[in-house]
Amino acid sequence: MFGRRITVKELAEILLTPEDIARRVQELGAEITRDYQGKELVVIGILKGALPFMADLIRQIKVPLRYDLMAVSSYGDSTRTSGAVQILKDIEMGLEDQHVLVVEDIIDTGLTLKYLVSNLQARCPASLKICTLLDKPSRREVDIHPDYNGFVIPDHFVVGYGLDYAERFRELPMIGILKPEVYTGK
Ligand code: XMP
Ligand code: MG
Repeated sequence: MFGRRITVKELAEILLTPEDIARRVQELGAEITRDYQGKELVVIGILKGALPFMADLIRQIKVPLRYDLMAVSSYGDSTRTSGAVQILKDIEMGLEDQHVLVVEDIIDTGLTLKYLVSNLQARCPASLKICTLLDKPSRREVDIHPDYNGFVIPDHFVVGYGLDYAERFRELPMIGILKPEVYTGK
């Protein structure tokens, strides 16, 4: 069981192994810990994709924190984003004068985060930063840059470690490139 390689037939390639991810999450946690020394943090995870990343990251951040979850939906088909964002579940805590860190799975066009940042900024936090596990800068449509980024990846549709195709593959411990025939049906 332990240490055995998992093969998933729908993946064309494994981009990041569980070990790659764990190492980088530890580094990000250390960086965030340094930057927020002496402060308290509010971590906001964006459902559903950021859940595994956030769960691992908060245990690598060594400053006191509270966390909450937000769910947003963007319209469009399942491999593309249209930019029309809707809040499906809002956080329960107030953000006024808080140091807020938004945790995302992936920044693609940037439209989701652009909307989220302006929405959260209106709640008057003391500071607002973005931490994303993955960044696909080649697809960016709006000017938004993460403060913390796990990996820059090329323009492929990826799944695993929270990322899904039609709600599947979120539970995989690695991140892989989905075979195009899975979503083209050919
Ligand atoms: P935008 O374009 O708003 O997109 O930056 C962010 C959201 O789009 C989804 N997304 C992906 N999901 N594999 C996925 O499973 C991908 O390669 C991918 N690219 C974008 C994701 O929900 C993210 O929050
Ligand atoms: Mg998704």
